[in-house]
Amino acid sequence: MQEEDLSKFFLNGILVDAAIQSAKIDNVDQVIKTLKERNITFLDQMILHDLYPENKSGSEYSVEIIKNYEGGTSASKPADWTAYFNDRFNRIKNILINKDGGGLMSISQVKNMPSGSDVKFIAMISSVSISPIKKFMILDIEDNVSSYRAISSTINQDLMQDQIVIIKGKKSKDAVFINEINFPDIQVRNGKPLEIEDSYALFLSDVHVGSKLFAREPLEKFIKWINGEVEEYVDIARLTKFIVITGDLVDGIGVYPDQEKELNITDLKQQYDELYSILNKIPKHIKILISQGNHDATHIAEPQPRLDSFFGGELYKLENAVFLSNPYQVNLVVGGHKTNLLGYHGFSITYFVNTISKYNKMTTDDVIAIMKLQLKSRHLAPTHGSTQVVPLTQDYLVIDETPDIYAAGHIHKTLMSKYKETILVNASCWQYQTSYQKKYGIDPEVAKVPVINLKTKDYQILDFLGEKVQIYKKGIKA
Ligand SMILES: [Fe+2]
Ligand SMILES: [Fe+2]
Repeated sequence: MQEEDLSKFFLNGILVDAAIQSAKIDNVDQVIKTLKERNITFLDQMILHDLYPENKSGSEYSVEIIKNYEGGTSASKPADWTAYFNDRFNRIKNILINKDGGGLMSISQVKNMPSGSDVKFIAMISSVSISPIKKFMILDIEDNVSSYRAISSTINQDLMQDQIVIIKGKKSKDAVFINEINFPDIQVRNGKPLEIEDSYALFLSDVHVGSKLFAREPLEKFIKWINGEVEEYVDIARLTKFIVITGDLVDGIGVYPDQEKELNITDLKQQYDELYSILNKIPKHIKILISQGNHDATHIAEPQPRLDSFFGGELYKLENAVFLSNPYQVNLVVGGHKTNLLGYHGFSITYFVNTISKYNKMTTDDVIAIMKLQLKSRHLAPTHGSTQVVPLTQDYLVIDETPDIYAAGHIHKTLMSKYKETILVNASCWQYQTSYQKKYGIDPEVAKVPVINLKTKDYQILDFLGEKVQIYKKGIKA
């Protein structure tokens, strides 16, 4: 930036971050006008990046944001938690009303009904227990006003604390005997092919740059491949329009005790700079969606904001990157056709692996079952405590819209499956087995890249670990 331009910003009451004073800005007057309209008085790399899309209109494919946490904090006082839980309850309640709203009562009304009446109502499950003789499932339930008890003679393994469901049953003296439970669940999306050319979305996660165990060579092979320099499946590389990275971009600093012994880059900013030097080699016509995970430079509680502009300063130079919160929901738009993508790092998945004994082995089927359970509950952390949350007035973990694709990471395993026309993806990692994983017998599936053709919704996983790029069959489940 020239001296003259810098003083233009200054005279208009806008300070320019030293880190971008050498950046090239084409239309300084237009940028100043936009910043003034938005009451922005400090121009840094993040703000500058936000101005890019305005210069990029007319592209035949783009990312349209549906839900993205833009910031906002909470004092985490009891009133904040009440507001947070009310928001969650009301959002999922509305989904349930749209699905099966006829004849609903409140719990207070249910309690006033004579014994023997048929009742139907919406409730949040505050606890689930099995009677000692293992014959009945007992649910403590509540809504915004009242609480009660419901009993089922069958054990429904999908029922968990804090889920919100419709209960149909018969009122008795002190409880409701359940006949049917209706989950909010996702809808069946239209799985018909889109009238567009073959267009691919690729999924990467858990890159863990900075770790001594970072799988640099396979990732470099991926970069060569995406640039069309590797023969195998080159058509997919050529027709790729989106690369989705669902968090743990870097290994971080101080994430667990003695982590520094396992790092070869011990400066957090340098870890992101290194990631920039890799992602900068991806062709610029491909949009890269970047969100954070529990190893990244932010708080661990969800929603996590988009990457910090100080640590991710270099990455914000990528004009083809879209920085998003964790979780987020967007449309991948190609030729005017939209594919709804829900992106989440996946932190709550390990809670359910650890607390539901049948999922303890964390097999592909187990993880698929957990991801389905999230969609069925319309919440990414259905049980409170399955991940840490910021009690905002809006619960960003509620799945308001049925996605075409639900993509996660975090478990360092790869899988693809389908639930009601929604494609489930867990992208693998770019980090070899850590000492922690060794201790718990977790064998990561390194350098696998799930691929979805947005036109046909066909999917497969490519393996970049071996000599040649090849199809990886293990993680695919019908
Ligand atoms: Fe990770
Ligand atoms: Fe993670």
